[in-house]
Amino acid sequence: MSILITNIKQLLQVHKHNVTIVKGEEMKKLSILENAYLYIEHDTIIEYGTMDEYHPIEAETTIDATGRIVLPSWCDSHTHIVYAGDRTGEYVDRINGLSYADIASRGGGILNSAKKLQNTSEEDLYNQSIKRLDEIIKMGTGAVEIKTGYGLTIDAELKMLRVIKRIKQDTLAFIAPTLLAAHAIPEEYRKNKEEYIKLITNELIPKAGDLNISHFIDVFCEEGYFDIEDLETILKAGQVHNFRPKIHVNQFNILGGVALGVKHNALSVDHLELLNDGDIEALKDSNTMPVALPGCSFFLGIPYTPARKLIDAGLPLAIATDYNPGSAPSGNMNFIVGAACAKLKLTPEEAINAATINGAYAMGISNMYGSVTRGKKANFIITKPMNHYREIPYSFAHNPVDQIIINGQLL
Ligand code: NIG
Ligand code: FE
Repeated sequence: MSILITNIKQLLQVHKHNVTIVKGEEMKKLSILENAYLYIEHDTIIEYGTMDEYHPIEAETTIDATGRIVLPSWCDSHTHIVYAGDRTGEYVDRINGLSYADIASRGGGILNSAKKLQNTSEEDLYNQSIKRLDEIIKMGTGAVEIKTGYGLTIDAELKMLRVIKRIKQDTLAFIAPTLLAAHAIPEEYRKNKEEYIKLITNELIPKAGDLNISHFIDVFCEEGYFDIEDLETILKAGQVHNFRPKIHVNQFNILGGVALGVKHNALSVDHLELLNDGDIEALKDSNTMPVALPGCSFFLGIPYTPARKLIDAGLPLAIATDYNPGSAPSGNMNFIVGAACAKLKLTPEEAINAATINGAYAMGISNMYGSVTRGKKANFIITKPMNHYREIPYSFAHNPVDQIIINGQLL
């Protein structure tokens, strides 16, 4: 299988030498080739250049991309797309004035989704979830992290992991599974959180480790959920089974999860709607990617991550959808890129860097995904005709995607 794309108006994120992360000032630069061609064989980028340098190449499929932008597929490093049913009832309750915390305190929220998931067969859960994946692939996502966390029992968490494994086997997109070991405290453990944490550390983590599906571990570090001591206990238990942290921190309160994540070499710290100077200091000289989730801020009406503070301090930033039934029921990365510009005050170049190479970094795959570099995976978006790549965020909430190539296959 070989594909040649010619007359590309702008080919984005082109790097001769493999980059794996962009930080601070560098995020403002997006390396582009005007009037370019791109040649891929099987699942790999073989060659690219400007049309001036082009010499005829025989390919099985040739695409004339006149007037179109070609860029690496979106890398969505934070989702919860394996879930059962929806929470439209709670959505209306929130419109009518209840807060996310009010809903959770009545046994709704994550507990509501867990009940639904526990009562859903593995087959049905797979069918509901793969449909969401197919939907986001069509919108340009080529690599996606998927978390467990709606099980809240050993059996249901392992069921989620098996569903993610099956999705991974059945899709061309890259899937990064994460064990969201501690997402909420089940009703029956409300008065005995320690017992639940023991269940997580002594049973769930070892069993999940044995399945060998996921190599990341997540904890929702938040008031009313898991505090900083719980976080440390769970991350330490995860380390024993080679799980690297990717954690939910600073969504509604600052508990110190950023520094603790850095201390445990977290690959990413996600949400960060609240952020203090200590958090920024902790992230400097770390290998930890801060991840903003503007779809969650939009949907819940909570503050947007102060992304400028992070980038202006010389740090990297990734953006992701957080696609989940409670706080962000959309996996549209095009919208996320638009929201990052309009609300996080990222430039289009910063937003595209955050949604491609840095998103790939936040899944541990930026050596193979997220840029146009010889030898990297052939995952691309070919846009509808447009004048400039800036139209991608500018025309927010429209769909700029015309065709996609995933793993070298034109879909
Ligand atoms: O990332 N904050 C924790 N977890 C999800 C939401 C979970 C839910 O409400 O179902 C999030 O926002
Ligand atoms: Fe999340």
